[in-house]
Amino acid sequence: MIMAQYESLKIISELKNKDKIRALFICLGNICRSPAADGIMHSIVESHGDNERWFIDSAGTYGGHAGDLPDKRMRVHAVRRGYNLTHRSRQIRESDFDDFDIIIAMDSANERSLKRMAPTVEAEAKVVPMSVFFRMATRYDHVPDPYYEGAEGFELVLDLLEDACENLYDQLTPKHGRKQ
Ligand code: 4NP
Repeated sequence: MIMAQYESLKIISELKNKDKIRALFICLGNICRSPAADGIMHSIVESHGDNERWFIDSAGTYGGHAGDLPDKRMRVHAVRRGYNLTHRSRQIRESDFDDFDIIIAMDSANERSLKRMAPTVEAEAKVVPMSVFFRMATRYDHVPDPYYEGAEGFELVLDLLEDACENLYDQLTPKHGRKQ
């Protein structure tokens, strides 16, 4: 656990001063949590006029929903907060470990799958849990799967993701470049 936190801190400090950041959000189906994180992060980056610096995408460890729009319930809850989710689900592929600098897993099962898939030690070090970016007071140590939950589950996911994405943006933005 302590080692995992150290790895997360290391990758954050390495990325902070890069000109370009390529971030990939991962969940199981890529129809609920990771496309929501993707949409929220795009919105944060755009609100800071920082689109040039960021390349953001999402994918799933499971490919059964490939080509699908996000789950309708997630789209409905997200649009109420101003996020129009239009991502099409896709499964993670090995080239993602080259194409992205940081690969952010929604829960520990996703994190384990990604670490297993990672072709090199360097690729494995790109995998971090989303929970390292939680800033709000929460009893969760992961972003819980809302698929079999009701409306509260989707709202909880959006609360956690908004909080974590804001912090991810702050952590990876050099101080002098941050909007006051
Ligand atoms: P996600 O949610 O991983 O947040 O996209 C799920 C989507 C689909 C399934 C499970 C979780 N599924 O079992 O099909």
